[in-house]
Amino acid sequence: MDEKIIQQVKQRYGIVGNYEGLNRSIDVAIQVAPTELSVLIYGESGVGKEVLPRVIHDNSTRKHNKYFAINCGSLPEGTIDSELFGHKKGSFTGALDDREGYFSVANKGTLFLDEVGELPLATQARLLRVLETGEYIRVGESEVRKTDVRIVAATNVNMQKAIREGKFREDLYYRLNTIPINMPPLRERGRDIELLFRKFAYDISQKYRIEPVRLTEDARVLLLRYKWPGNIRQLRNLVEQISIISQEREITPEILRSYGVTDDSLGETGLVLHGANRMEHAAEAHSYEKERDMLFQLLSSIGKEVKDLKELVHSNMETIREPQPYIVNEQRYAPTSSIPYESHHIQDVEDIETIEEAPMSNKELMKKNIIESLQRNNGNRKKTAQELDISERTLYRKIKDYGLEI
Ligand SMILES: Nc1ncnc2c1ncn2[C@@H]1O[C@H](COP(=O)(O)OP(=O)(O)OP(=O)(O)O)[C@@H](O)[C@H]1O
Ligand SMILES: [Mg+2]
Repeated sequence: MDEKIIQQVKQRYGIVGNYEGLNRSIDVAIQVAPTELSVLIYGESGVGKEVLPRVIHDNSTRKHNKYFAINCGSLPEGTIDSELFGHKKGSFTGALDDREGYFSVANKGTLFLDEVGELPLATQARLLRVLETGEYIRVGESEVRKTDVRIVAATNVNMQKAIREGKFREDLYYRLNTIPINMPPLRERGRDIELLFRKFAYDISQKYRIEPVRLTEDARVLLLRYKWPGNIRQLRNLVEQISIISQEREITPEILRSYGVTDDSLGETGLVLHGANRMEHAAEAHSYEKERDMLFQLLSSIGKEVKDLKELVHSNMETIREPQPYIVNEQRYAPTSSIPYESHHIQDVEDIETIEEAPMSNKELMKKNIIESLQRNNGNRKKTAQELDISERTLYRKIKDYGLEI
């Protein structure tokens, strides 16, 4: 392990932490980068998987060619093959032009297939073929095309289980998994939790010109004990919330608890407990305080689901009430990757302004918000969903319902 190179990579990509497991993962990424081997990155949600494919690409011989990150979980099942492999004009309703897929535009470059466990089985078969032979066929065509793409994939689901349940092809799994890289969960990273807290507190203090929050000793201990089910993403959100909402700059365990940080087993779904930790847990198991916190978390997760359901019902009601959709213009939007195709364009702001003359229905307003947010985020759907405070799935459905798809 070359410590110096690992530190350089961390600095360049803003990766904070010194945990050995993290260093090992970065080291494997650097070692494997110059080869052509497929890499599969494992890790729970929010552990920081997305940076590694970029590290691999940038340190490979392909670094001057294209890199695309595709979230397989958020591509609608009906268009996923066309997005990945392209289609021929007229091959299905809505296929108004020939379209190149990612496997064509990323030729000689790297494709990062995020949430690869979510790919439908039919797409898995196509993917296996292209991985083994470099050959693929566009949707609606029979001509075999060639491509040269390096695949890096990531998953936060248990692939062995997905295979057992018949959801993921075993042969594809072995093909993708040539080099596995495991990103450790935050709860294992010890002092990194504190370093990350300080980094996020500093970032937000700079952004809003406020004094950074800091931890009391007890609060530090609590953070280290907490199980972080949402990992680094959860920690960042927590620090942002506390920095903005809390009047205090010195953060105590009480403040942390009021933001849902508990020192019990709540966050550790699926976590295997060891030795002393296990005993500690047995002793704490019957505390009323824990039960209250557990109920609180349960309620908040139910609340989120109710919110999603409300959105779903709401948009269905709108569709029933308004069978004639309000047509703004023919629009095309950037693809799901954070790096858009050059050929896509985003509707001019002027086009949207003209709509404002007539009073808007909720649906029109939502549509306008989506259009504007997509623009602001360069077509990145994940960021758009976050900005609009709706789930990614809801955003995809709305984009489809409103005819904003490519
Ligand atoms: N070591 C780190 N240092 C600084 N920031 C980090 C680190 N790891 C992750 N992050 C930040 O945490 C957030 C979550 O990371 P990321 O999106 O890579 O998670 P993920 O593993 O892809 O999760 P998911 O499976 O849910 O997609 C991002 O904002 C990322 O920048
Ligand atoms: Mg991810």
